Amino acid sequence: MYLTMWEEKALNGEFGEALALAMKVIVKVGEALGADRLITISHAHVSGISVHNIGVEGVELIESIARKGGKVRVYTTANPCSLAYLQKLRNVYGEEIYSLQHRLVEALIAMGVDAKSFTCTPYVLRRPSMGEHLAWSESSAVIYANSVIGARSNREAGFIALMAAISGRTYYAGLHDDENRIPQLLIDVEFRVNSIALASALGLYLGAICSEIPFIRIRFDAPSMLRQIMIKSMLASIATTSDLGMVYLDGITPDIHRIRIDIQSLERISVDMNDVKNYMESCHANVLFIGCPHLTVSEIKTLLGSETVVHQLKALNIEKILIATPKLTENFESELYRSIGVRLVKHGIEFELLPGVCPVVSDLRKAGLSAVMTIHGKAAHYMPRVAGVKACLVNVL
Ligand code: F3S
Repeated sequence: MYLTMWEEKALNGEFGEALALAMKVIVKVGEALGADRLITISHAHVSGISVHNIGVEGVELIESIARKGGKVRVYTTANPCSLAYLQKLRNVYGEEIYSLQHRLVEALIAMGVDAKSFTCTPYVLRRPSMGEHLAWSESSAVIYANSVIGARSNREAGFIALMAAISGRTYYAGLHDDENRIPQLLIDVEFRVNSIALASALGLYLGAICSEIPFIRIRFDAPSMLRQIMIKSMLASIATTSDLGMVYLDGITPDIHRIRIDIQSLERISVDMNDVKNYMESCHANVLFIGCPHLTVSEIKTLLGSETVVHQLKALNIEKILIATPKLTENFESELYRSIGVRLVKHGIEFELLPGVCPVVSDLRKAGLSAVMTIHGKAAHYMPRVAGVKACLVNVL
């Protein structure tokens, strides 16, 4: 692999142990993938930071890199933590896991990770520009960056993204290269997508049938903010049931003009409502989870701001609604409680904001839950496998 003089020196340890380790990892992964050079990145995003997944050994590894002087060279964000991070659940998860999750966060912040991040929507904090090279490791964020923003990132493992952050480099391969961004399949969605749950179910189905990048012709039937949540949730669902890091969405993906291809010449698959309805099993739970990927304050207001929604939730016997968000300032939290929470509570529905955390990567049985309804395909898919509770998609909101 060709390396610049600076990269050679960094690899040989001239700038410290942590940077040498980071360069070694990035070079090795690049060589394994056939890359002939490294490229600089402008933003890294590190996932896999829930203590339930990473364990004591993972935390100690990250701490040891911080102790060796590991510092990020580019703007770096991190994924949400486990619920064990929250002070209000300290007794529920226990002191040991609470302090382990805090040690991990502190080690990341000591290396220069943005303390305001801890979200799976890093593009809300810093929206990359089209064509920008990134090293992101949250699958829902990667597919959004490539498909909606036109930036470039492979689906990295969390540790590789951290090594990219420290070296400021990634390998030139995969989705960084135009050659690997060519759609191979044409998908025609034959119905209008008019709810988040339907967008999610469609995403799970599309991920299951596509092993190569598809060009998707699709119509969303919703006002713009709702449409945005549908797209986020659909893309996250596609990335859940596939290894895809990007798709083309007709009229949305901005850099289609770079790809010279006759769309009509691609193998065509048409998708109708019957194909996706299996993903919308009927089930019941009195807890509803929203925010997978995380929802912004405006998105929460759009989803829960009307009286009709309260009646819908009552009709489904929802007693509690859990909402995962990026870290919020106290002002935003209290504003949401005032504008939405108070009304829900008046109708007997508990309203709980979960800033900076992800229930899907947390042991929810410890929090007393056994079943959860959601509007998001990724959450419905992973909650039984990772959080240990039953979960299903419900067409509400
Ligand atoms: Fe985000 Fe957790 Fe879903 S990280 S995309 S809320 S699984």
